[in-house]
Amino acid sequence: MFVKILPPEVKRKIAAGEVVESPVDVVKELVENSLDANASRIEIEISKGGKKLIRIKDNGTGIHPEDVEKVILQGATSKIESEKDLLNITTYGFRGEALYSISSVSKLKLRSRYFQEKEGKEIEVEGGIVKGVRRAGMPVGTEVEVRDLFFNMPARRKFLKKEDTERRKIQELVKEYALTNPEVGFLLFSEGREVLNLKRGDLKTRVEEVFSKSFEEITEEREGIVLRVFVARNQKQGKYFLFINKRPVHNKNFKEYIRKVFGYKTLVVLYAEMPPFMVDFNVHPKKKEAKVLKERKFLELIKSLAGKNNPLIALPKLSQSRASYSPTYEIVGQLEDTFILVKDSEYLYFIDQHLLDERINYEKLGNEDLACRISVKGGQKLSEEKVRELIKAWQRLENPHVCPHGRPIYYRIPLREIYEKLGRNF
Ligand SMILES: Nc1ncnc2c1ncn2[C@@H]1O[C@H](COP(=O)(O)OP(=O)(O)OP(=O)(O)O)[C@@H](O)[C@H]1O
Ligand SMILES: [Mg+2]
Repeated sequence: MFVKILPPEVKRKIAAGEVVESPVDVVKELVENSLDANASRIEIEISKGGKKLIRIKDNGTGIHPEDVEKVILQGATSKIESEKDLLNITTYGFRGEALYSISSVSKLKLRSRYFQEKEGKEIEVEGGIVKGVRRAGMPVGTEVEVRDLFFNMPARRKFLKKEDTERRKIQELVKEYALTNPEVGFLLFSEGREVLNLKRGDLKTRVEEVFSKSFEEITEEREGIVLRVFVARNQKQGKYFLFINKRPVHNKNFKEYIRKVFGYKTLVVLYAEMPPFMVDFNVHPKKKEAKVLKERKFLELIKSLAGKNNPLIALPKLSQSRASYSPTYEIVGQLEDTFILVKDSEYLYFIDQHLLDERINYEKLGNEDLACRISVKGGQKLSEEKVRELIKAWQRLENPHVCPHGRPIYYRIPLREIYEKLGRNF
């Protein structure tokens, strides 16, 4: 009597709204598709914060010409075949929803050339209606153009955020995916201007390039879970990134926990790898959250990582304000012409003389390469005078813990441990 079955085009728009709420969601889905297609280069172009245009080009495997018309259908995916595959997902996509949703609420053009084909094929869709299919000359890979998002849902279009806000969200998102895919080059243009240009490289280089900072790296492995974390301490404001199996994860409780164990002024980029069956991404329509089997174990592991082999936690004397600082370091000597031994009331420090000098010069000159070149080397005998000078400068460093490349400058042993090992009271 009162219940009506909605017409398909209305159902379609409602469903699309679950997957895509704003331009950043479109960028996310398209970037994920390019990564799933094994692209090594992804170029993203946006105009008016993505509201007017989003264009993504990749050099991945491309879509087979027979599939080009299928990919915009609901449930069209090449990534899984049956329900049991849901337990072993190794791709970002698996629902076959993204292109269907995006093409339902925008003007979309998709062109793709499969790697074994001589030419590409293009499909044009407007609000879910196919407007044309044609051949396209192009290099191997895929290009998707999304114009006028929500042109057919005016109410939703009105609620999009300001261009600036949307642009910022897109930039953050691209950085997130760049952080987990260092072997892929990312380019982002906004209004024709280059905003990001991240070259392919190793993970540490990528992390340091994204944040323009040096990081310390700690790893931990237990019960099938591998954790790798990059940490930069003493920041004005803490920031926390978590990736599980290369997917950005935004569960509030995880982030809060990381913040707690690593400290509030720390920039943390944490990568967790675990067998696919241990994590479920199918708990959130946009796959932004994950459910981890044995969650408590996972959190414990993060905690032990934060405390692990980590001479850099709490070194209050060194970070006190310069004026109030009174040196309590006693220079013990030089070891192997490579390390400077220093003690305070609690620790014996082994300081790498090259890394220390490099940090000092880097803070003076702001240039890593030059700093490295002019610094004292390992294996070089130093005068007492030079050692004193280095230790004095160490205490004045803004970051006395890691060298410009992110390696720890020193290793330290608690004096208590030495006493205890030798059966003495400390
Ligand atoms: N950039 C691309 N390169 C190669 N193939 C692509 C690309 N984008 C989409 N495809 C193909 O189109 C299919 C549909 O893409 P779509 O994003 O809609 O679904 P999905 O990625 O399988 O799942 P999900 O909805 O979870 O993203 C993919 O399974 C893939 O086969
Ligand atoms: Mg997809």
